[in-house]
Amino acid sequence: MMTNEIALSEQTVALLICMDRAYNNSMNKNRVESVRLLGKDLTSHELSVINTLRKQEFGSASEISPQPNNDDWVKNYFLIRDGDDSLLAFGRLHEVDIEFKAEAYSIFGIATIVSVIKGKGYGTLLMQSIKHFIEMSGKSAIGFCNADLSPFYRKCGYGILSASGNRFLYRDSEGELHASKYGNDDVIYLGGDDGLIPKIIENNEDSVYLARPHW
Ligand SMILES: CC(C)(COP(=O)(O)OP(=O)(O)OC[C@H]1O[C@@H](n2cnc3c(N)ncnc32)[C@H](O)[C@@H]1OP(=O)(O)O)[C@@H](O)C(=O)NCCC(=O)NCCS
Repeated sequence: MMTNEIALSEQTVALLICMDRAYNNSMNKNRVESVRLLGKDLTSHELSVINTLRKQEFGSASEISPQPNNDDWVKNYFLIRDGDDSLLAFGRLHEVDIEFKAEAYSIFGIATIVSVIKGKGYGTLLMQSIKHFIEMSGKSAIGFCNADLSPFYRKCGYGILSASGNRFLYRDSEGELHASKYGNDDVIYLGGDDGLIPKIIENNEDSVYLARPHW
């Protein structure tokens, strides 16, 4: 009798453990997580999704390939993933040196913003997590977007400078200036401790010089 009782109780425990595992698995499957990592820590699967979608969404010809000798190795990547580690949205931040009114600044360039599954709030989650990181850093940040997308960024808490992309010129290492790649695009921004953004807004006739040809 005693043995039976113990056997029954073991079965019950086994069943409970099984149910608990199934519950945890189903919760993990539905769990959406926001992570920041460096380019060197992206899995080959994540890199492949990112490169495929960059090509699809932006027509990017080059591939991101983090190596110890390139800046993608230590670049900040932001991922929204589900419990199966599937990528739902991603973006990254370039570190960009710029010059405005003869002063040098180091800012974040907001780039490669893509939602893999659109219209489910993953883009918003991504932009909120990027915003949190930028605000904690104290740096100013700038990105470029088609005016149609400005309402999306505004809702995520970013400021917008309408049709101002043409103020941002690339100055190469030889000092030669190149016309902006962003023509009439809107500029999205977050102001940092350096006071750069109010200065750009105030002096709206002046160009901004970027040490990077594109975002
Ligand atoms: C822009 C993008 C990242 C938005 O991601 P998403 O996951 O679809 O966005 P969300 O589901 O969080 O949508 C948030 C809000 O923005 C709006 N929105 C999203 N994409 C939009 C678009 N292309 N145009 C206008 N509004 C848009 C949504 O309608 C939604 O508004 P609501 O809250 O009133 O319903 C996604 O559309 C995308 O990957 N686009 C292709 C790549 C691209 O253009 N990236 C931006 C480069 S600057």
